[in-house]
Amino acid sequence: MRVFICGFGTVGQGFAEVVARKQQYFVDKFGQDVRIVGVMDSKSYTVDPEGIDPLELVSRKQTTRRVGDETYTVSTEVLDKVDYDVLVEVSPTDVKTGGVGLINIRHALSNGKDVITVNKGPLALKFRELIDLAKANRCKFRFEGSVGGAMPIINLCRESLAGENIKSIRGIFNGTCNFILSKMDKGQPFEQALKEAQQMGYAETDPTNDIEGYDSACKVVILANSIFGKDVTFDDVQITGITSITEEAIALAASRNMVIRLIGEVSENKLEVSPRLIPKGHPLGISGTLNTAQILTDLAGPITVSGRGAGRLETASAVLSDLIAIMDERRREA
Ligand code: HSE
Repeated sequence: MRVFICGFGTVGQGFAEVVARKQQYFVDKFGQDVRIVGVMDSKSYTVDPEGIDPLELVSRKQTTRRVGDETYTVSTEVLDKVDYDVLVEVSPTDVKTGGVGLINIRHALSNGKDVITVNKGPLALKFRELIDLAKANRCKFRFEGSVGGAMPIINLCRESLAGENIKSIRGIFNGTCNFILSKMDKGQPFEQALKEAQQMGYAETDPTNDIEGYDSACKVVILANSIFGKDVTFDDVQITGITSITEEAIALAASRNMVIRLIGEVSENKLEVSPRLIPKGHPLGISGTLNTAQILTDLAGPITVSGRGAGRLETASAVLSDLIAIMDERRREA
């Protein structure tokens, strides 16, 4: 299985480490190894059809800040330099235009390559187009890590809860906001809490996407399209972020035994991200950086999942699960 990785930041490097760690698992389960045949970061790239040592890639990136010796200007030209089976698109997200991630995903699918991504921008803006492109080219297209990082949700709803009528999903889909609100519960000012979230590597490259609710909105769109069969985009979500939440509002909530949390909600008629009052002790009132989702189904009733919404190995674990699903499907088709 030959993999091309686009984006070699936290998630890309985490995924390379996971590939190194799971090599024996791939061989035992599928009788084949997984080779990284190409990697590009925002400026440089390296390719080798025989495969590149994943840990060497990580160490090169960490010492030189570049993944390869070659530089480029057009990412799709780099993708054409080596043959691969699966594109792992984990470049920084652009929620306004879809950015280079959208260009890379379109290019790979158009060329018959399977794609795994955690890149929210392309999914929130062009979901239907990308699904149709994947279908037309008979490609597999998976994106479990795009919502909730390591928290299982998309494949859980589509596979484990197959046949259920999912009535709604409500959840905490942004660890940065939850961290800030939890710190504010303890009296820490907004700015200081945001700074800490950035230092922890949780916040987006541009943290406006977190605190204005745009990141949560992307996730709501992805859930609406992939689980509720909608054809919606970012602009269809009613979004309110957390920037106008005052210390007074937090204190007032606390005096009523409540907390304020940024909740994303998807149902047949609702597509919303907004701060809400949640009773203390309720699953959606959790503190810290965890993501949580409550899935309301017709047969199984309510199901609550929780997990790390970001992080190096955590998000890479979701990419790994998609890769294994693709390898399984390919084996069944062979
Ligand atoms: N910035 C995001 C968060 C990362 O804080 O949850 C995962 O999408």
